[in-house]
Amino acid sequence: MVRRNKHPALLVQWSMIGLLAFLLLLSGDTAWSEFRTWFEKEGTPGAPADVLATYTVKLKERGVPGPEAQARLQEIEAYGKQHPDEARALHFNRIFTWSEAPFSRQPSEFLKRVASTRKPGSALDIAMGQGRNSIWLAKNGWTVSGYDISAEGIRQAHDAAAAAGVKLDTALASHETYALGEAKWDLIVMCFAFTKLSDTAYMKTVREALRPGGVLLVEGFGGGKPMQRNMILSAFLDYRVLVYEELPDVSDWGKVKAPLLRMALEKP
Ligand SMILES: C[S@@+](CC[C@H](N)C(=O)[O-])C[C@H]1O[C@@H](n2cnc3c(N)ncnc32)[C@H](O)[C@@H]1O
Repeated sequence: MVRRNKHPALLVQWSMIGLLAFLLLLSGDTAWSEFRTWFEKEGTPGAPADVLATYTVKLKERGVPGPEAQARLQEIEAYGKQHPDEARALHFNRIFTWSEAPFSRQPSEFLKRVASTRKPGSALDIAMGQGRNSIWLAKNGWTVSGYDISAEGIRQAHDAAAAAGVKLDTALASHETYALGEAKWDLIVMCFAFTKLSDTAYMKTVREALRPGGVLLVEGFGGGKPMQRNMILSAFLDYRVLVYEELPDVSDWGKVKAPLLRMALEKP
């Protein structure tokens, strides 16, 4: 028996809407993938507005007419907003391959200062980047795990670990997908991993993930919103404060002189 659709006009209408949505999605993806190819090779990481301004010039050089370029930029912006982790990974992957990237590949002096005073155990390096801190810890007897959203960062960390003859347990993961575990770590490192400091739900999982006697080490820019009125510290008032300082210094990330927050807290 042949089933007839009672509303063929409606069916055609829905098919057209579906096709239009698909084409829009496809054009957004195409604009994004062209942008991504350009950024991976030639882009200068920076504020999104600056990156897009440079890309506009590029499109103009390629002969893309103004209105078409504007439409593409809007699609790229929309795609980036819909896929924030992909956009972040693209940004940091480029930083890690960019020869002029202003960040230090040497381990944090603050991390060295604090970790040297502790008995090595299990350490988690949150947003480990290219592994500068993980590798120092592993070389100094710690059993190190780390995660990051940047595949390039993780790749470089593996290469550096192999060159240094140490092992790292790494995961390509985001803050949202990595399971921190419970009472698992003797040291949790958050070096220039600011995005989550003001996320109270995430910081609660950090608290739970530390072993009693374990240390949370934070280093990053002070003075910003999450740092105001000791916001992070106030979530850890039951912890023993080993170090809490906010002093001007040259940052490992950005290489600028700025008030830097350095904090090491021991779980009771
Ligand atoms: C400023 S870098 C710091 C890297 C490293 N901790 C260091 O001190 O060298 C920030 C790192 O956070 C990672 N990142 C950004 N957003 C992330 C997310 N949502 N989940 C996991 N890692 C993320 C980046 O890929 C980058 O490696």
